[in-house]
Amino acid sequence: MSTEQAIKVENLNKSFGKGDAFVDVIRDANFTINKGELVALIAPSGAGKTTLLMMLGCVDEPNSGTMWLGDEKVYKNKWLTKETRKIRREKIGFIFQAHYLIPFLNIIDNLTLLPQANKVKDADSKAKARELLNYFDIAEKEKAMPSQLSGGQNQRVAIARALMNNPQIILADEPTAALDMNRSVDVVKMLKKIALEQDVAIVMVTHDDRMLEYCDKIMKIEDKRVIFI
Ligand SMILES: Nc1ncnc2c1ncn2[C@@H]1O[C@H](COP(=O)(O)OP(=O)(O)O)[C@@H](O)[C@H]1O
Ligand SMILES: [Mg+2]
Repeated sequence: MSTEQAIKVENLNKSFGKGDAFVDVIRDANFTINKGELVALIAPSGAGKTTLLMMLGCVDEPNSGTMWLGDEKVYKNKWLTKETRKIRREKIGFIFQAHYLIPFLNIIDNLTLLPQANKVKDADSKAKARELLNYFDIAEKEKAMPSQLSGGQNQRVAIARALMNNPQIILADEPTAALDMNRSVDVVKMLKKIALEQDVAIVMVTHDDRMLEYCDKIMKIEDKRVIFI
């Protein structure tokens, strides 16, 4: 595990709405996550896990504070670039509870769709996709449709898709919630392997305590505060 920072936040705050609709979600968060770490994020429903993940992914804008992704300061009381989309494209991979593969595209076309939209050369994105399918032991499925794969296999494809842009950070929102115990352990072990071998920082929201033993750190949101346990 390297000690290089992948994510750092200082005094990060997030609330939604005003007046009667005001919801305070994250108060004064301070933490660093290093490259190579698999960090579990746990908290009750509605505590702000998805909101925190979406801020780290430059999707939701914080209200105040400072945030670095890698060495780049991306937020200081406002986004420091107009192109948050570019930061996402270059640095971040997302994995969700549902795999969100496109049902009418085969596996390899699902993987190359976004890179091709981002003008990556066809041959390069195909080669990357094949390398990842190999890595995840589903090389023979490249021409299959998502409906022909099991839930666990589709989630592996979704993880492969998150790696297509060689991200420094992977944000996974309950990636195992739709899987049974064995498949869940498979997916978490796979994320652990990716963190280690590719020096990626992974933040994974989970409700399943049985997954925690595979994680390097456990981050919790308690009373709007982000703490490590
Ligand atoms: N876009 C939004 N507008 C207003 N409130 C929101 C929005 N997104 C989330 N919230 C509120 O923020 C709180 C945290 O939500 P969320 O991050 O989805 O929690 P979790 O993922 O831990 O279940 C909840 O009270 C939720 O209602
Ligand atoms: Mg959530």
